[in-house]
Amino acid sequence: MNNYTKKEIVDLLKDDSQTQWIFDTADGVRKQYVGDNIHLRALIEFSNICKNNCLYCGLRCANKNVERYRLTEEEIISHAQKAVELGYKTIVLQGGEDDFYSKDILCKIISQIKNFDVAVTLSLGEKTFEELKAFKDAGADRYLLRIETTDKNLYKKMHPYMDYNNRIKCLENIKKLGYEVGTGCLVGLPNQTFDSLAEDILFFKEIEADMIGIGPLITHPQTPLKDECNGDFNLSLKVMALTRILLKDINIPATTAMETLVQNGRILALQSGANVIMPNITDFEVRKKYEIYPNKNTILQDLQENKSKIESLIKSIGRTVSNEYGFRKGGKNER
Ligand code: 5AD
Ligand code: SF4
Repeated sequence: MNNYTKKEIVDLLKDDSQTQWIFDTADGVRKQYVGDNIHLRALIEFSNICKNNCLYCGLRCANKNVERYRLTEEEIISHAQKAVELGYKTIVLQGGEDDFYSKDILCKIISQIKNFDVAVTLSLGEKTFEELKAFKDAGADRYLLRIETTDKNLYKKMHPYMDYNNRIKCLENIKKLGYEVGTGCLVGLPNQTFDSLAEDILFFKEIEADMIGIGPLITHPQTPLKDECNGDFNLSLKVMALTRILLKDINIPATTAMETLVQNGRILALQSGANVIMPNITDFEVRKKYEIYPNKNTILQDLQENKSKIESLIKSIGRTVSNEYGFRKGGKNER
């Protein structure tokens, strides 16, 4: 059961009669290896400016219909402070690839947030070794960089001017520097095959990721993929569940894209292998502008109310809200 071949994964992904079995098995593996605790991570979307042009993303630089914003250093810190007051133990800093924030500014922000006694996760796109090292030295604990797809041809089509090998290099550097490594993929990209999804899952295992985020594609009307179909919810859930079955003790979020595509998507994910939720704590007026896909921010405006709602959802399915930092269980960074 631990070492599915690519063919076995493809067969499982294709076979609808296996879907419930996969979900239940993943739920059992989750319970056995990471328990019932669910870790909450406060997400701050600090800039929607991006130099990249990913075909699926509403924030791509070619989309001129976006009102762009950047939070100041002080605004980012005050967001983090609010999250800490609400009881969050991890702050996730996410932004488009925006060179406005220099290495030094980011290091300053990271070390100030670390003073709040929280774990810090970065999701800033591709950075040089030197930058990644400086962020780590400033106290960052984890780094998220989805590979998006391991199908090199598809990767090239979806990411004009970007280089697959550089993304791999970044992930290797993140690992080498001692971060917890987060990656993941999109499910439902045009012409994506079962074969390539199976490769994605095997890739997660091969690079020994600590965190995996998987979500369905949700097409954005102001992107070249506007006439394509959304990703299939059950297929994304299956990719996520098989990832749990293979990687066992890693952290897996119930992604916002799953909740956006299907009502209760988040709960279904938590019952099929996921053990993390990442509530968005960005100020409401700002958050509206971080539209990587439509209807992303249907959640409650009041942060306390939103957190309480999530906590009661967690309890309603017999799970518990973690008050730990939420490192990978038994991982080298756990404390
Ligand atoms: N639908 C679903 N997910 C998307 N992302 C970007 N655009 C979309 C979309 N249209 C995901 C990418 C990225 C993450 C932050 O959001 O996988 O890594
Ligand atoms: Fe930029 Fe990320 Fe959107 Fe690509 S997915 S355009 S890198 S914000």
